Amino acid sequence: MSGDAAITDEKERETMRAIVQREFGESEVLRIEEATLPIPAEGEVRVRVAAAGVHAVDLDIRRDAALPSMPRPTLPMTPGREIAGVVDAVGPGVDADLIGARVVAHVGFRSGGYAEFALSAASALHVIDDGVAFSQAVATIGTGRTAQLVWDAAQIRPTDVVVVPGASGGLGSQMVQLALSEGATVVALHGGPAKRAVVEHLDLGEKHARGRLVPLDANDESWPDRMGELLDGKQPSVLLDGVGGGTARAALESLGRGGRVVIIGWSSGEILRLDTDDIVQGSLSVTVPLGRAVADLRALEARALAALADGRTSPPVDEYGLEDAAAAHDAIAQRRQRGKIVLVPQPR
Ligand SMILES: NC(=O)c1ccc[n+]([C@@H]2O[C@H](COP(=O)([O-])OP(=O)(O)OC[C@H]3O[C@@H](n4cnc5c(N)ncnc54)[C@H](OP(=O)(O)O)[C@@H]3O)[C@@H](O)[C@H]2O)c1
Repeated sequence: MSGDAAITDEKERETMRAIVQREFGESEVLRIEEATLPIPAEGEVRVRVAAAGVHAVDLDIRRDAALPSMPRPTLPMTPGREIAGVVDAVGPGVDADLIGARVVAHVGFRSGGYAEFALSAASALHVIDDGVAFSQAVATIGTGRTAQLVWDAAQIRPTDVVVVPGASGGLGSQMVQLALSEGATVVALHGGPAKRAVVEHLDLGEKHARGRLVPLDANDESWPDRMGELLDGKQPSVLLDGVGGGTARAALESLGRGGRVVIIGWSSGEILRLDTDDIVQGSLSVTVPLGRAVADLRALEARALAALADGRTSPPVDEYGLEDAAAAHDAIAQRRQRGKIVLVPQPR
């Protein structure tokens, strides 16, 4: 069946709560407002948002400091590019049987996710099983697809020893779990004792995590020595880095000959520094999947969601109320995240 007009189970409703950003700036520009309920256009659906992902890039967009390759948003805007929830209305040309489906989508730079309701192209939806939590689905749709991209670049094998800085973060946690599921030894670096519990919980037990998890506090500068002791002198073979700075540099220097380095970001503010001497002396291979055109993003999303559904990943999520979007941004800026930060609008 195809809808030729928006169909909703809440015909009387015209407004919703949404985070509206009217100026660029610090987190206080994220304010909750009563906004107009969006109406799906042709090829679109409206989703009652159960979980909206908060991404480090959202902070850059908020400050008007996103990479030049990203479109500059028009204000006012509602941030949020990752949503999970239930379809509550469809636009013309969309199968009305979708109403009521549990879905997750990356809506891209159209944004709008930090709200009780958000629009998505129907073609961007993935239907998710009842057993999959909305928060984990939304933690997977964007960050999980990036983890799959890293995965393709890294080609992890059971014999690998993989170092992951920022293992308590959204991307780091999923890279750790994928590498463990492959049977690799994973040195999961975290910033300070408070984040150790998050990293320890990345071990999903024997059924899904065949590898060995070695959590280490990267704030203790002797971590490379401690790693050497715990691994009986075996050197790491892979570095998956989204953090950069001194921690990533120390990890690079710990790699054995022929090591593989995948650079995916620089949460510390400083990208991993390395030069051709490092590469030649270590026979390193260095891959930067960031910024490349990806032929089939949807396939990466499907693979990430399959890993979630079959238990190879179970991303830790740190939930905030919709009205606490500014606090959620501050938590990322102040390095207080414990897994993927997700906004959970409360039903009213
Ligand atoms: N998520 C994606 O889809 C995606 C896509 C492309 C690129 N990236 C890039 O990959 C990197 C990680 O992304 P993410 O989504 O995992 O971010 P995240 O959830 O904010 O996690 C980043 C982690 O980096 C660590 N970190 C170390 N030094 C830091 C510092 N000075 N400031 C902030 N964090 C610091 C923190 O862990 P500790 O405090 O435990 O060290 C934190 O958990 C970012 O650079 C991001 O731009 C991500």
